[in-house]
Amino acid sequence: MLPRPFSIYKADPLTGELVLLIEIKGRGTALLAGSSPADKIELLGPLGSGFPTPPAGSLLVAGGAGIAPLVFLASSTEVPQTLLYCARTAGLFACPRRDLDMPGLSIVEATDDGSRGEKGTAAAVLSRRIEGAGAVFACGPRPMLAAVKEICRQAGVKAWLSLEERMACGIGACVGCVVATTGGYKRVCRDGPVFPAEEVILK
Ligand SMILES: Cc1cc2nc3c(=O)[nH]c(=O)nc-3n(C[C@H](O)[C@H](O)[C@H](O)COP(=O)(O)OP(=O)(O)OC[C@H]3O[C@@H](n4cnc5c(N)ncnc54)[C@H](O)[C@@H]3O)c2cc1C
Ligand code: FES
Repeated sequence: MLPRPFSIYKADPLTGELVLLIEIKGRGTALLAGSSPADKIELLGPLGSGFPTPPAGSLLVAGGAGIAPLVFLASSTEVPQTLLYCARTAGLFACPRRDLDMPGLSIVEATDDGSRGEKGTAAAVLSRRIEGAGAVFACGPRPMLAAVKEICRQAGVKAWLSLEERMACGIGACVGCVVATTGGYKRVCRDGPVFPAEEVILK
């Protein structure tokens, strides 16, 4: 069985504790969710490059399970920033609200169907707040990232996107995770998963 890629959700260097937030999608995530403390699980990482430190006034845009690396990012700084936590519907908010209780972090929740928080897609919620943002950091489904990229381009705001390609080796050897960029094809596992928005070509 091939390994599966996951973001760091929380990490404590003092205790050595690493926390993942996993949405059950198929066989691999179901096996992980069903594992018990006695099971041995092979883990390789950390791999690739993460987000740079957000400046004050940044917007963190999370779609669904894309919340995981943004919670880790938010915990790296206490400068004021706003998390736009978006999902299709209320039942898809995987991250417990208490985990978002951090110094400097404001939360805006939104759903496409209006069942929790503001009504609207991540793109709509971002458009309403992009004016004057320090920078934008986003992780979520590809159509959401494409919309974030375009909104930030039009507003002249620097954006960083974390891409979620399917992966096999995770170390740059199989070239199974490439994405088109302005500098040619790049490997999401090794050259990313975080890229400057203006570099990636998202169709
Ligand atoms: C850099 C990175 C970080 C990620 N971080 C997280 C995280 O923190 N939490 C989380 O829940 N998920 C995360 N994902 C997505 C996660 O890797 C996939 O959901 C997982 O690999 C699915 O495995 P599976 O065996 O359960 O599903 P499979 O049986 O392999 O597939 C089930 C469904 O999931 C889709 N899928 C499979 N692999 C991926 C993938 N890599 N990206 C997107 N869709 C996929 C398939 O198209 C299919 O529709 C991340 C992906 C990447 C690339
Ligand atoms: S997963 Fe093999 S090169 Fe990226």
